[in-house]
Formats: sequence, structure tokens, C-alpha cells
Amino acid sequence: MSDIRKIVILTGAGVSAESGIDTFRDGGGLWEQHRVEDVATPEAFARDPDLVLRFYDMRREAIQTKLPNAAHLALAKLDAQWRQAGRELLIVTQNVDDLHERAGAARVLHMHGEHLNAWCTACDVRSRWTGTLIERPPCPECGETALRPDVVWFGEMPYEMDTIFSALREADLFVSIGTSGAVYPAAGFVRNAREFGAATLELNLEPSQGTAWFDEARHGPATQIVPQWVEEILGK
Ligand code: OAD
Repeated sequence: MSDIRKIVILTGAGVSAESGIDTFRDGGGLWEQHRVEDVATPEAFARDPDLVLRFYDMRREAIQTKLPNAAHLALAKLDAQWRQAGRELLIVTQNVDDLHERAGAARVLHMHGEHLNAWCTACDVRSRWTGTLIERPPCPECGETALRPDVVWFGEMPYEMDTIFSALREADLFVSIGTSGAVYPAAGFVRNAREFGAATLELNLEPSQGTAWFDEARHGPATQIVPQWVEEILGK
């Protein structure tokens, strides 16, 4: 292996696209089907909670029928082998599906939350949740009917930012996979990583909005270019 020891990988909707989960901004993507302001803001939830809960109930149900693809599996393999070699790797995902975990990745930070969690706004406890929330079930912890999707909405602070910045500060290599580079703060990680001295690589179907910031960019479907890159880095 090369002298790269610490890797931070950022993933977005493109890594799950070939598992059959819609991206947000591609043609026919989720934000063409739904207005962000109607379903993905705290104001929307206050205005029409049934609409918002139904939207996330459908998404929660749908992701449970999907399977990890070759890109998730390759990243899980890298995760295992990199650690075994005593090196560090952190997968930061903007995705709210659990396909990295189901592929076997051990440490994944969900900076935009998780579909399979419900968050009680009364007691602040997050519970594993595979069913629906529309019927206002009680919180398993405190019994209040104050559960909401544990998904970061526009205008809310992404999770785990301190941990992510510590990892970016230390990283030798930052890799961005399947994300359009349209949503901050994740879209800014490439510049942060560069400033901290990491090499940077983009793996995406097409050039992202931030493609110029990367030292290297490879374009193609994630199920092809991610396994290729993983074999390459493990072989170094
Ligand atoms: P986007 O939908 O904005 O971008 C998906 C990217 O994946 C695009 O650049 C596509 O070209 C690329 N892509 C599509 N299919 C691919 C494939 N098979 N292989 C590789 N790349 C592919 O999704 P994100 O960048 O993840 O936030 O969106 C970021 C955030 O915006 C989401 O986490 C969500 C959304 O609003 C919140 O909900 C807070």
C-alpha cells in the first residue's frame, strides 16, 4: 500500500442510484417530484405534518426493499482491509439509506440523518424505526407522541460536524463519490480537505459542481468506477 494512511470518503445519492434509489437533482429526481419547501423543512412539518410524515414513510418503506450495489460492497471491503492494515478510514454519507451498513461498512457517519431512525422531540432519544410515523405512534422511550423522521431538513444543522472536520484535518486523501456538490457544508469538504493538505479525488457519473476543486476526477457509474478505484488503492 502507498503512503496514504488516512482516508475520508464522502458519499451522496449517486452511490445508491444503481440500487434503485432516486437521486435528488438528476432528471426525474426527488426534488423534481416534490418541492423541497413542501417536505424537507421544519416549516413544512409545522404547516402540514401529515404530508411530510407520509413522504418519509414512503421513502422509509422503499429503501428497505433495495439492496447494496457493487460500489457499497467495494467501499465496505476497503473499510475492512484498510483498518486491518492499521490505517484509518471514515465514510461520511449524505444518504439517509442504510446501504453502506448493509454492505458491511463498520463506521459510517450519517450527516443528514437516517430514514431508519425516529427522533422524539419530547425526550430527544432516537429509536430504530422501520414502520410508519403517520399514525403518531408513541415514543418507545418516553411514551409521548412526538416522533419525527431523523432526517436533517433544510435550515437544520447537519450531524457530526466536529468529528468530520477532525477527520478532514488529518486526512491524506479525500474522495467524493456520487454527489452533485450542490449542498453545503458537504459541498465545501473538498476545499477544506485541500486546505488541510489532503489529495482529492472525485468519482461521479459526470463532473460535479465542484469538480474543478479536485486534483483528479473520474467519471462513470459508481458500480464500475468505485470498485476499480478500491482495487487500485488496495493494490498500491
Ligand atoms: P444529488 O441528486 O444532488 O446528486 C447526485 C449526483 O450523483 C449527481 O452529480 C449525479 O451525476 C450522480 N450520479 C447519479 N447516478 C450515478 C451513478 N450511477 N454513479 C455515480 N454517480 C451518479 O444528490 P446529493 O449530492 O447526494 O440533503 O445531494 C445532497 C443532498 O441534497 C442530499 O443529502 C439531500 C439533498 O437535498 C438533505 O435532504 C438535507
